[in-house]
Amino acid sequence: MKVLLTGGAGFMGSNMIRFLLNKYDHAQVVNVDKLTYAGNLDNLKDIVGHPRYTFVKGDIADEATVENVFRQHRPEVVLNYAAETHVDRSILDPKAFIMTDVVGTFTLLEAARQHGVKRFVQISTDEVFGSTADGQFTEATAFDPSSPYSASKAGADHLVRAYWRTYRTPTVVTHSCNFFGPYEYPEKLIPLFITNLLEGKKVPVYGDGRQVREWIYVPDHCRAVDAVMTAGQPGEVYNIGTGERLANIDVTRKILTILELSENMIDYVPDRPGHDLRYAIDSTKLRNELGWAPTRSFDQGLASTVRWYRENEWWWRKIKKGEYLEYYRQQYGRKT
Ligand code: NAD
Ligand code: TYD
Repeated sequence: MKVLLTGGAGFMGSNMIRFLLNKYDHAQVVNVDKLTYAGNLDNLKDIVGHPRYTFVKGDIADEATVENVFRQHRPEVVLNYAAETHVDRSILDPKAFIMTDVVGTFTLLEAARQHGVKRFVQISTDEVFGSTADGQFTEATAFDPSSPYSASKAGADHLVRAYWRTYRTPTVVTHSCNFFGPYEYPEKLIPLFITNLLEGKKVPVYGDGRQVREWIYVPDHCRAVDAVMTAGQPGEVYNIGTGERLANIDVTRKILTILELSENMIDYVPDRPGHDLRYAIDSTKLRNELGWAPTRSFDQGLASTVRWYRENEWWWRKIKKGEYLEYYRQQYGRKT
């Protein structure tokens, strides 16, 4: 099985490469990654030199790069993880989101159509559905994105669905709740808060912290994408969710408890513009049709994640020294 996995130097892509190489003796993985601020070859340190792994530094929105990869490696499966992914960055600077998430996905789809692939899996988010006060998003819920990030992902997902309807390119889309676990760039809620606290810094809770997110731990997400890749039906859409829905303030309190710190470490800061109040995803289809179910609770995943960040300071300290600080100064006008 020849897999082209894009964005494999990022958080979830790197975890998935490790999963695929471990699970399938016959899997060959080509990772195309632009190495943006979020792409980090340290995430793949243990994979470098693996006989079934190839890295190509490149932009998925660049036709020539994508064409060369398809010609040279003849992928049967495309797993499109590459994206600009952080909502706050999309608010400050949306252009890169359009270029990668929309144009990049389009460029991959065109190559997949022209060269023929057995499966094109688009790794997408529940954020395309907008916010729901008390309901759950199903696969049929209409897109209603709030941020430039979710609007870009929604644009890409429309194209992915259209390529099946128009050209019969065998695409599948996954809409997942929030991931968390090892190698997540410390700008997202969970890794930012854990690393700030390990550094003795406060954690910036947006608004009143009552916004709700649904959470999935890394290995369960890898298993879900594997199920969709191998058994998902072309043209179909699968929601990935655990039912574990928590207010941000409760996630924050759980992290504080694990680290034996008090609520004095919370800094309530101005809310994110257009902040979605609640995400909740109905994953019945994935469970009933593909037999998937999560194996770890949020609490188990969080304890393992805190342990990983504690044991891998070398990984995140390097990142926090760099461009990251400038970004947070710009956003909050202060040092974090
Ligand atoms: P990430 O930000 O950690 O990594 C993104 C990777 O994509 C980086 O390695 C980056 O270098 C690469 N990249 C960016 N632009 C590129 C381009 N033009 N060409 C090639 N590579 C490029 O992302 P993540 O959190 O691991 O998310 C992976 C995917 O999952 C994304 O598509 C995201 O929309 C989706 N998703 C994420 C979450 C979440 O909670 N993080 C939830 C649902 C869906
Ligand atoms: P985030 O991890 O950025 O993921 P997403 O916005 O894609 O869901 O944020 C998760 C939630 O945490 C979201 O409601 C915003 C909130 N949040 C904070 O309160 N403070 C922070 O510093 C960050 C990064 C997020």
